[in-house]
Amino acid sequence: MTEFPMTIASVIGARPQFIKYFPIAGAIAAARKRVGALREILVHTGQHYDDSMSKVFFDELGIREPDYHLGAGSGNHGAQTALILKESEAVFLKERPDVVMVYGDTNSTIGAALAAAKLHIPVAHVEAGLRSFNKRMPEEINRVATDHLSTLLFCPSMTAIRNLAAEGMTHALHGGALIPEGFDDLGDVDMNRPAVVNVGDVMEDVLRHSVETAKARSRVLETLGLTPKSYLLLTVHRAESTDDPEQFAHIVRRVNEISAGKTVIFPMHPRTKKAYAAVREKLHDRVRIIEPVGHFDIVMLLANSSLVMTDSGGMQKEAYWLKTPCVTLRDRTEWVETVESGWNVLMKDYRGSHTIAEQATSRYGDGNAAGRIVDLTVKICRGKEKR
Ligand code: UD1
Repeated sequence: MTEFPMTIASVIGARPQFIKYFPIAGAIAAARKRVGALREILVHTGQHYDDSMSKVFFDELGIREPDYHLGAGSGNHGAQTALILKESEAVFLKERPDVVMVYGDTNSTIGAALAAAKLHIPVAHVEAGLRSFNKRMPEEINRVATDHLSTLLFCPSMTAIRNLAAEGMTHALHGGALIPEGFDDLGDVDMNRPAVVNVGDVMEDVLRHSVETAKARSRVLETLGLTPKSYLLLTVHRAESTDDPEQFAHIVRRVNEISAGKTVIFPMHPRTKKAYAAVREKLHDRVRIIEPVGHFDIVMLLANSSLVMTDSGGMQKEAYWLKTPCVTLRDRTEWVETVESGWNVLMKDYRGSHTIAEQATSRYGDGNAAGRIVDLTVKICRGKEKR
């Protein structure tokens, strides 16, 4: 049993963050049994608020009711981020967590990270070190800034470790290789000497759990009248894809070429719905537009599709793990390993087929990223307490 109570505050707010948080919640519960006094505060920024964008994930994954709702809602980047910054600061001042854990690259991530860092609370960044090298993406700005505010940088891959090293963040534990479980040689870690750690990808933890549950629970194929491998799956949601009408029209044309004559299922994000209404170029008539679906339904749709076309980072990797060929509807990707393996092709490079190079083992860890993240977070905080 540890001698001091420790508090981890997790801040989530957008759809992929609910999913990334799920294995962390499990790992915190497991760690509590080992180390005793471990308190957790869960903060929902409210960036996503529709039931289909938020509640469904809490219900399906059994995530508990958050302790705080910040009510951020939609808005321009400045207004939305400012609200998250201000409201999360108030929570941190009241609760004084030992660590603030943030996830991915959204406005919720940067807002909470900035509030915590200014209060000298160590920030733990889950999914650190990713880069598209395109600062026109709001996510790229959020990632770079969050990484440089963080004390614990939990990377999903070697590529992420290298990206951070190139920006001067060179204190990589275990030489940047996947950290062994139980690793203890932590050295000095603080805000001015952040630790960079390769823990693998929490999304792999989630998928390992979700595949079997999705098979047991999801009825999406029956509901939509689909048989396995008889359709393609399409998702588009990023600002870089939808906000510029020229780019959106280009994506629509490319999707029409790739999927000509085939059934396509397209669960549509609310942002995309607005943008699609305004764009002149339209999808062919075998594209079935449906409402956004929950986590188990998307896993089922992805696992059974003959090919997925997507601009989502999470789905590129899920396709790789599920061995579903993927065409990424972007000019570049942060998940370069999926392209190197052959399972993923950028839309500009796609010529109608995939050439699979290898997939002996996953290059994103071993499905226990969350366990490592929580274990190291607890150890580093405990070490500070003793000094
Ligand atoms: C955000 C993230 C993006 C992430 C995505 C996951 C930023 C900058 N972007 O993009 O990195 O991949 O979440 O989905 O943080 N809306 C609704 N209902 C909702 C939520 C949003 O109708 O519950 C509509 C609103 O019109 C809103 C728009 O969608 O203005 C965009 O939402 P926002 O949260 O700003 O960004 P996302 O595109 O979802």
